[in-house]
Amino acid sequence: MENVTTLGEFIIEKQQDFPGSTGEFSRLLSAIRLASKIVSQQVNKAGLLSHILGAVGSQNIQGEDQQKLDVYANNQFIKALRARKVVAGIASEENDDFIPINPDGQYIVSMDPLDGSSNIDVNVSIGTIFSIYKRVTPKGSPVSMEDFLQKGTEQLAAGYVIYGSSTMLVYTTGKGVNGFTYDPGLGVFILSHPNLKTPEKGKIYSINEGNYQKSPAGVQKYIQYAQQIDKESNRPYTARYIGSLVADFHRNLIKGGVYMYPSTTSAPNGKLRLLYECNPIAFIIEQAGGKASDGENRIMEIEPNDLHQRVPFFVGNSDMVEKLEGFLREEA
Ligand code: AHG
Ligand code: MN
Ligand code: MN
Repeated sequence: MENVTTLGEFIIEKQQDFPGSTGEFSRLLSAIRLASKIVSQQVNKAGLLSHILGAVGSQNIQGEDQQKLDVYANNQFIKALRARKVVAGIASEENDDFIPINPDGQYIVSMDPLDGSSNIDVNVSIGTIFSIYKRVTPKGSPVSMEDFLQKGTEQLAAGYVIYGSSTMLVYTTGKGVNGFTYDPGLGVFILSHPNLKTPEKGKIYSINEGNYQKSPAGVQKYIQYAQQIDKESNRPYTARYIGSLVADFHRNLIKGGVYMYPSTTSAPNGKLRLLYECNPIAFIIEQAGGKASDGENRIMEIEPNDLHQRVPFFVGNSDMVEKLEGFLREEA
């Protein structure tokens, strides 16, 4: 193989952009890389492992059934992050409260260890989402809630892993977005999608359309707009919805489209969580030239007030998100 860059090499190369850096941030990314490989391996054989497939029989704080792989992935990521000693604390979808790790660490991680868990048992793509901040409380003290409730604009890095037909790790540190594809034979992630940008024109709309009647009028109007025939604007758009945010977002990032999870009459704040689903995805789409909004406000400027806070989420191609925001304003 010629001219390949592995994720490990890439991380070291980028560290050199920060003279005097302690390497702690690189160690943190390496922990995520390691846990992703372990989870990827389990996901690939999930169908064979009865201890991995199916529900645990418990629910998380949000009343969702925890799948075994949710718990497995959560443990693997926590274990890997704990071992590197650079992380002060972790917030996870699967834990009611944040987990204090090392008082001397300076980084905070928020994560959705397994996204799209309803798809595990049916062999459909799932993912991991992560977001990294610097703590605001002084090093040496235990972490506190304010370290976690930072606005998305404060993110140092964010990314996701998609366990799909290949496993990929896509991340940003605020200098563009890079995607790495896992080679299971070599056990390394290889830079396959350098400097990812989302297409300027999008053609895909992604929403759980079963919730149509329960969605705001502006969203209904956008769906009708997406289905209208108009050659000039490339409509009708194509409908695609997997039900795994990571997979739906990844497809739209590459092909161009908009993903929507609005407020509904039964879920007035939508379903997706600000800290470990919306903010990291928002950071990535902005770095790739797109937009993320709650219908009115930029996602990354929302002041968080709870670890598991939910927000309506509209993300993707800028023109499409703006069009949708226009309909939501008109119908408000
Ligand atoms: P999680 O598995 O982490 O709880 O997230 C599931 C989320 C997200 O991945 C997906 O986009 C959304 O739930 C799908 O929700 P619906 O089934 O309501 O469409
Ligand atoms: Mn999720
Ligand atoms: Mn999850």
